[in-house]
Amino acid sequence: MSGKPFYITTPIYYVNDVPHIGHAYTTIAADVLSRWHKSGGDDSYFLTGTDEHGQKIQTVAEKKGITPIELCNEVVQNFERLWKALNIQNDDFIRTTQPRHEKVVQEIFRRLMASGDIYKGEYEGWYCVPCETYVPEAQMAEGQTCPDCHRPLTKMTEETYFFRLSKYAGPLIKFYEEHPDAIMPKERYNEVVSFIKSGLRDQSISRTTLKWGIPLPGDEKHVIYVWFDALINYLSALGYPEPGEKWEKYWPAARHLVGKDIIRFHCVIWPAMLLALGLNPPVRVFAHGWWTVEGEKMSKSLGNVVDPFEMETLYGVDPFRYFLLREVPFGHDGDFSELALVQRINSDLANDLGNLLSRSLQMIDKYREGMLPAFGAQTELDKEIETLGEKTVADMDALLDRFAFDDALKALWAFVSRANKYIDETEPWKLGREGDVERLDAVLRTLWEALRLSAVLVAPFMPDTAARIWSQLGLEGEPGAGARAAWKWGEGGEGIKVNRSGILFPRIDIEKWKKEKEQRDLEKRAKLDPTAFFKYQEPKPQIEYDDFAKLDLRVALVEKVEVVPKADKLYVLNLDLGNEKRVIVSSIRENYKPEELEGKKIIVLCNLKPAKFRGVQSNGMLLAAESPESRYEVLTLLTVMDDSIPAGSRIS
Ligand code: ME8
Ligand code: MG
Repeated sequence: MSGKPFYITTPIYYVNDVPHIGHAYTTIAADVLSRWHKSGGDDSYFLTGTDEHGQKIQTVAEKKGITPIELCNEVVQNFERLWKALNIQNDDFIRTTQPRHEKVVQEIFRRLMASGDIYKGEYEGWYCVPCETYVPEAQMAEGQTCPDCHRPLTKMTEETYFFRLSKYAGPLIKFYEEHPDAIMPKERYNEVVSFIKSGLRDQSISRTTLKWGIPLPGDEKHVIYVWFDALINYLSALGYPEPGEKWEKYWPAARHLVGKDIIRFHCVIWPAMLLALGLNPPVRVFAHGWWTVEGEKMSKSLGNVVDPFEMETLYGVDPFRYFLLREVPFGHDGDFSELALVQRINSDLANDLGNLLSRSLQMIDKYREGMLPAFGAQTELDKEIETLGEKTVADMDALLDRFAFDDALKALWAFVSRANKYIDETEPWKLGREGDVERLDAVLRTLWEALRLSAVLVAPFMPDTAARIWSQLGLEGEPGAGARAAWKWGEGGEGIKVNRSGILFPRIDIEKWKKEKEQRDLEKRAKLDPTAFFKYQEPKPQIEYDDFAKLDLRVALVEKVEVVPKADKLYVLNLDLGNEKRVIVSSIRENYKPEELEGKKIIVLCNLKPAKFRGVQSNGMLLAAESPESRYEVLTLLTVMDDSIPAGSRIS
């Protein structure tokens, strides 16, 4: 590629936790920018990865009884799986435990030691173990607790290596004065600059209190502080400092996306490290806000951590991507609410975009047998749509240059709405009735073009949706391939046959959705608090004895248990019912081993209609009690008190 270099990064995520919407948010935002720039012909390089050293990871591994690297190898897969599910097209994935990274950290340490920017000293201070940071006394919260996580601080003294951060206060202020867009949004810029102006203290960058870190070159008692290690990923992934095309091209064209929690590391320590290495600070650090969930802080103990896998499964990857970037201005805090997500699916996606596609294609099918007409004579009104289309491209480009995702999407949706209104204004059905073929063709061609352009512009946000629109328009290849040429009005189209197939976004029935959501919430609460399960268990209506008497319940002896190939939850149970043998299929494989079942007497409902599971017919159902812990994972089979009762005995 030969376009302008654009280097976009996410924070590298800690592997002590499962991925949540916060991680998904930053990574989706980076993905959109990378795809946008690639679509526009720039040479974009998108890096994400994992931060695998430090006290927290060592502690979690110890608790689980595994080694830190085993923990890392396990958890990193969650991130890799998530990025796949969310259609993230990163160009590289860096792990700080990779040798390609570790050797660069050590080399940078050596260079800064040699230049005098790192020196050995002694440090005493209040340390927050979960946050892995010393807290200056002035910032300490009440009762010697951490101002960020509010947990108690520990007083520590250690021999440590310092990075001469104080020396860089002046150069940093000068850099930021000359580069007012280097930190965004503006409040963050102001916050960082005034922090630097208040004076910087040298930064401790080594630890003797833990083992799980990169060994400090020449002093084996120490490992390198996890933040000094982590920040370097942005360079090590590019192959720095070996002479090489990648880092020479992409540095300092870097845009770091970070949460507002880690701005000082990225806007004070990191650029100072770079200046010490004789490199320029990144073009921009953008700090986005934090998500709360249904009005509450997201936390494990509240049990309200939003699982991005669940959102993707429930609503699809594109609506989830769209919602996160449309709902809240990047840089502001925002609230995640599933109802708001569902409403956006119904209004923005189904009503606006989906309708524009289906209305337009229906008419091209009806009046032109699916064949796309050529552009005819343009009226003022057609010209207005074209002009707005091209203005939308320019506006979105300018807005995304400032990472204003929500405004960029608003601009695109204003165009989509304008195109929907254009249908009402031109009344193509009337033109069809009146036989005004020329005018009808011009309208249909304009609509098709508006959709083609919308697909190109929406592709970085909703890649699958764009591809579906593309193929329904009768186009081949990928939306947006062809760089800026595809961003123009009126490219191609002759001889194309549209290919209408299915609704883009089915509307969600809100009432039905509410009921299902209640059930899901109940199950989540039950996991957290077993008593909640009983509280919400609905009593069933009363029945007559005759209703009960319809059930043919019997004692059955489990003779043999077999597994169903490719069905990890199912068993085939071969039963003895006294005067007959029977096979039933049951999903209890996660609860019992075959040898725990064989020889046991259980209770079976015999007159349930047979049903097939994975091709195996089941002739009845066994009875089990569900535990409040979880509705499906923990259950116990019903059996008889006196084992001498013969198989086949009836239950009444
Ligand atoms: O800080 N809302 O990793 P981390 C929005 N390893 N974004 C959120 C969020 C929320 N509620 N919670 C987390 C680290 N994030 C370091 C980074 S970089 C050299 C090292 C996002 O796993 C946000 O991007 O704690 C935040 O910066 C990131 O997750 C922190 O992830
Ligand atoms: Mg964090």
